Amino acid sequence: MLVLGIETTCDETAAAVIERLDSGDGRILSNVVHSQIADHTPYGGVVPEIAARAHVDLLDGIVRQAMEEAGTSFAQLNGVAAAAGPGLIGGVIVGLTTAKAIALVHATPLIAVNHLEAHALTPRLTAPLEFPYLLFLASGGHTQIVAVRGVGDYVRLGTTVDDAIGEAFDKIAKLLGLPYPGGPQVEIRAANGDAVRFSLPRPMLGRPDANFSLSGLKTAVRQEAARHTPLDAKTVDDLCASFQASVLDSMTDRLKVGLKLFREQFGAPNALVAAGGVASNKALRRALETVAMEAGTKLMLPPPALCTDNGAMIAWAGAERLALGIIDGMDSAPRARWRLDESTATPPQFANTRAHF
Ligand code: KG4
Ligand code: ZN
Repeated sequence: MLVLGIETTCDETAAAVIERLDSGDGRILSNVVHSQIADHTPYGGVVPEIAARAHVDLLDGIVRQAMEEAGTSFAQLNGVAAAAGPGLIGGVIVGLTTAKAIALVHATPLIAVNHLEAHALTPRLTAPLEFPYLLFLASGGHTQIVAVRGVGDYVRLGTTVDDAIGEAFDKIAKLLGLPYPGGPQVEIRAANGDAVRFSLPRPMLGRPDANFSLSGLKTAVRQEAARHTPLDAKTVDDLCASFQASVLDSMTDRLKVGLKLFREQFGAPNALVAAGGVASNKALRRALETVAMEAGTKLMLPPPALCTDNGAMIAWAGAERLALGIIDGMDSAPRARWRLDESTATPPQFANTRAHF
């Protein structure tokens, strides 16, 4: 089964072709990702209108390149998948409309994929993994602990009550004067820093639910930074290290609760899986190893290039759905918001009046 996947929900314009074998194994035939970071850097964050226009300009060429690198023709495709949300609505419209056009012209099934579902199913693309498993999704827009019970069968066990983890990294970087996107910068500076110089709060520690909160920690870092202005390089390193250590302590505690809730409701998970851009942080990956080991659970981390947004994950989620005979109609609507544990069927085009086109 050959599926083209299109991703345009944020600031990556991406397309990929994957192959799904009858055995359930996957193969990436091409995976083209164009990051728009340079377009947004002057503004210190993603500007939705600039992102949407860049997707319009770039997507045709990215799709063509993905098809060429895969050595595939449109006629050979078994399906075309696009991320239909959640995300910045302008970009989502561009990706979904392009997929609809290809599907229509080549009489190929359309699969309107939930971007979060694509993150959730990615580990099954690179290695054999049976349901159920526990997903820790940590990106710029989302921080969730999810029980993945099957394709289209998700139970959210925890989420952030304020900032997403990646968002917190980006905001800390901004207030310390580091360039956007801040996550990788904070990780680099933290590697040279003293993680115990500043005693920062450990949000939500010991709470019986599996939720996250990061805005109080962000405020604490801001206050320490203000106390040490002008910031010297060593203080920036130490603030990054102290911040990252606090996030990882909080994350470890929240995941332990998430694993406990999972066991109580669904029995033992087959793995702890992490996805999203923050899951490429090496210190975080080491902390996850400890969590998994203590829980007696296998840890599965997709390679960093598949943790950040890409087309292969959309194509793969499309293939998983297609293999179950699930396809979508031309009336599928782009959605700015779309919870993973809602029905994964996209509503009719005009159900959400703010998201129609
Ligand atoms: O999943 P992703 O590529 O895009 C979405 O947000 O959907 O994640 C991007 C986020 C950004 O907030 C970025 O700062 C963060 O992931 N990130 C990191 C690292 N690499 C990317 N955060 C911490 N450490 C990193 N190494
Ligand atoms: Zn994402």
